[in-house]
Amino acid sequence: MAYLKLDHVDKTFTRGAATTEVLKDINLTIEKGEYVSIIGHSGCGKSTMLNIVAGLTTATTGGVLLEEREVNSPGPDRAVVFQNHSLLPWLTVYENVRLGVDKVFSRSKTRAERDAWTLHNLNLVQMAHAKDKRPSEISGGMKQRVGIARALAMEPKVLLLDEPFGALDALTRAHLQDSVMALHQKLGNTILMITHDVDEAVLLSDRIVMMTNGPSAHIGEVLEVALPRPRKRLELATNPTYVKCRQRVLEFLYERHRFVEAA
Ligand SMILES: Nc1ncnc2c1ncn2[C@@H]1O[C@H](COP(=O)(O)OP(=O)(O)O)[C@@H](O)[C@H]1O
Ligand SMILES: [Mg+2]
Repeated sequence: MAYLKLDHVDKTFTRGAATTEVLKDINLTIEKGEYVSIIGHSGCGKSTMLNIVAGLTTATTGGVLLEEREVNSPGPDRAVVFQNHSLLPWLTVYENVRLGVDKVFSRSKTRAERDAWTLHNLNLVQMAHAKDKRPSEISGGMKQRVGIARALAMEPKVLLLDEPFGALDALTRAHLQDSVMALHQKLGNTILMITHDVDEAVLLSDRIVMMTNGPSAHIGEVLEVALPRPRKRLELATNPTYVKCRQRVLEFLYERHRFVEAA
């Protein structure tokens, strides 16, 4: 049984008389605990696909099943982290996470338990020290950490990441990738992540879903990344499996890119 399933998903946007078919016949199944990345050129429909899983957009035909139940609207079982943090600027780091905790656990946890759970999740992303700061007082990488804490604190069945490290400098991005890998190792979350960074995709993923260019984008190829965990970025640089996976994704993207230029 698939944990998460995208079943014959098509998406067409209509604006006045103009219609654009963005996604065409997307079929994908993800197992519990799997880390799957979606890679593809800008504008091919990656965010659209993630938003359909999140329930923020509806598929034109086909649909999404999570534990065999159809997804039609947003829910705390599918937490999303976007590229640009979506923290509320007037709340502290603690309050931003607590808001999500209160929403999900207002009945099942006492006030003291919700406080402890909020702090626990801030600790997981190493942000407890900044709990009383406001978003404007912390760095971009720290904001993304808080966003991840808020998502994790809702104990989602699936964590949806839309280019979560895209706006960060290289060093901060590497630190955060390592943190997300460690969290995945520790908590066993099911993760669907969008990226356009080839190294990031290979380093983090169990499988890489490669999208063709739009319009009517579909899954061109799925690559299994057979690297044992835990993974260490420095050791992987010379690992033959790593190098081969990286090469394959680059080839796929390059071939697609050329195709567009020639068209
Ligand atoms: N709400 C919308 N209405 C019309 N077109 C949209 C809408 N959202 C996205 N699109 C179009 O769908 C295509 C895919 O967008 P998107 O999923 O954001 O791509 P990606 O995340 O891969 O860069 C783009 O051509 C974009 O212009
Ligand atoms: Mg996008």
